[in-house]
Amino acid sequence: MRKIFTLGLFIISFNGYSQVAKKPIARRPVVHKPVAQVSETTLSIRRGKLVYQKFCLSCHQPDGGGVPNLNPPLVGTSNILGKKSRLVKIVKNGLQEHVEIDGEYYSNNMPPFKMLTDQQIADVLTYIRKSFGNNAAAVLKSEVTQYYAKGKK
Ligand code: HEC
Repeated sequence: MRKIFTLGLFIISFNGYSQVAKKPIARRPVVHKPVAQVSETTLSIRRGKLVYQKFCLSCHQPDGGGVPNLNPPLVGTSNILGKKSRLVKIVKNGLQEHVEIDGEYYSNNMPPFKMLTDQQIADVLTYIRKSFGNNAAAVLKSEVTQYYAKGKK
């Protein structure tokens, strides 16, 4: 009985084997494409653009130009190109002080964005600082964590 069973298994497996042998699975040749070198900053800008489109664009506009006397531009102002720590705190805490920004006042309120992760804030600020004709250093996630911990409200 056991022998028959073993023989049966052998036939089944042998049969399976021969079928595989007759019909080899077509394999695509392995092509080694060169891996595109995308920098971490480029990736951060790409992610930041999506955050911007979702949360910031409605007020600051697609080109970062803002709305006169309502929402400030994010283009070329001393603040945007300036201290990262200030920008991190504004995104986390919002800004309702109607401060003077390069000689202009903006009457709208900037809501706080506490629900964004430190990575999302780093990404969106990097996107802003490297778009619309701006070219300032990227903001790293570790910097967001550090600056926010210092100035927590
Ligand atoms: C509801 C409109 C609104 C939205 C949405 C909004 N902002 Fe603002 N933002 C403002 C206003 C208004 C100010 C200026 C507030 C003030 O002067 O008190 C401002 C100020 C800022 C500043 C400071 C500008 C400067 O020159 O000092 C930054 C940076 C900024 N916003 C980034 C963002 C980012 C990033 C987002 C998206 C995560 C965003 N804002 C979403 C309205 C908005």
